[in-house]
Amino acid sequence: ELPSNEKIELADFLRRRERVFREQLDREPYDLDECTAWAVRNAQRGTMSGLLADAKAAGGTVVVPRAGVATMDGQRALMRELDEAGAGVLPITVDSLTRELKFDEAARRLAASTATDSQLNGFPIVAHGIDATRELIASFDKPVIIRANAVDLRIVAETGLAAGGTAFVSGPMYATLEYSKHTSLAESIPKWQYVFRLLGHYTEAGVPAGDDAVGFAQSGTCSVPSLMLVGTVIDALIMAGQGVKHIMPYAMLQGNIAQDVACCLASEALTQEYLRRLGFDDVTTYVASSDWNGAFPRRTPDAYGLIAANIVAAAIAKAPLNYVKTIEEGIGVPTAAANAASIRVTRYLLRLIGLQADSLRSPDVQFEFDLILLQARAILDAVLDAGDGDPVRGAVRALELGVLDIPFSPNIHVKGNVLPIRDAAGAVRFLDHGNLPIPAEATRLEAERLARRRGDGPELSYQDMIDDLQFLELDPPPATTP
Ligand code: 5AD
Repeated sequence: ELPSNEKIELADFLRRRERVFREQLDREPYDLDECTAWAVRNAQRGTMSGLLADAKAAGGTVVVPRAGVATMDGQRALMRELDEAGAGVLPITVDSLTRELKFDEAARRLAASTATDSQLNGFPIVAHGIDATRELIASFDKPVIIRANAVDLRIVAETGLAAGGTAFVSGPMYATLEYSKHTSLAESIPKWQYVFRLLGHYTEAGVPAGDDAVGFAQSGTCSVPSLMLVGTVIDALIMAGQGVKHIMPYAMLQGNIAQDVACCLASEALTQEYLRRLGFDDVTTYVASSDWNGAFPRRTPDAYGLIAANIVAAAIAKAPLNYVKTIEEGIGVPTAAANAASIRVTRYLLRLIGLQADSLRSPDVQFEFDLILLQARAILDAVLDAGDGDPVRGAVRALELGVLDIPFSPNIHVKGNVLPIRDAAGAVRFLDHGNLPIPAEATRLEAERLARRRGDGPELSYQDMIDDLQFLELDPPPATTP
């Protein structure tokens, strides 16, 4: 039977808990009452959503990095360095073995790691367990977000929330269509609804737990903002369906300032519009501007430049949250020092540009904002129609029909008939919108902008899109000939 956006009843949720702990850890579930009681006490010291509410009210921006290493001592030292650099919320990024439910292998690699030599690309939170992780989190004044991305994060979310994390990341659209080859939405949505139901349960108990609605932020290529936000809104609706009250809708920043500012503003406007339309009128949203998610310049000075361009847009938009990338993103998992430097340059520009934010909004921002809403509403309305008003059923069916479609997905259930392209100023448009129900007026507006790149040359082509892969590189390395 197709899942729906109905809230999972408590008795059903508790049965699902028994099953997933038995299957994946061969044990009883954590004692939920003890966990929520501990988490409520811990939340008195501050939460991510509390910080974001203050930032939103003041027009400021909380800077949050990503970071994780294998050992407890290594993770503590890493978080301390990011704390000193001015991170507003401290991250615990979970390693990929744990994300893929290979808990035993993660534990073996943890045993082989030292504080200065991590054999994992993140913190193996299940191997460390609740008690040790509680001690880590309680040793900092700042709130902590647990970060991971995969189709099945039920045990990771259980462990992270029980240990005092006050926010989590992602949802079924992003985790399935951007991270998984074989999983269908019909399979993954119930697993994510479990995570959201857990966040909802903590929320009811008194921990205002937040979650990132990431959207379709294609790793490696650019994203048409409207389509990116369709994923954001659908994930937000599924979160709200399970009782999540604090949502961070993403806006990935891509280098065109006017379009990036508009994307941040549209992320807030669209998410709230559709939450209210479906009757979720007590959900607070905090736009999460996110530095470029694709291939980063490999030279660190160039990477500073990209981070700076991104944060200028976030500052003009007054996004309450910025997930900062690092100057070593083009190289690999960053050192603590590179991460700290990236936080500092971000905070520096936020202070300087923040003072001038209002005077820096160009008229193009309104053009981009209107265009994003025109395109995104058309797609979202078609998705909801396909599900007779239910966003879960709608997403599953619309994906089958190609009415919901994204470019370059690794997932076999995605048609993949959509292609993005940059215009002359680097703003992202549709080269081909496949079967997405894009209004003719929007296509006309995009065509005008694309004509400026084309000039007197031939129609923009697939090769132009390939060339765009290096748009954010200065002096790109020569193309390899096949
Ligand atoms: N430390 C720092 N950043 C990390 N990321 C993933 N794992 C880690 C880690 N252990 C970052 C990636 C990418 C984003 C999805 O998360 O570099 O930018």
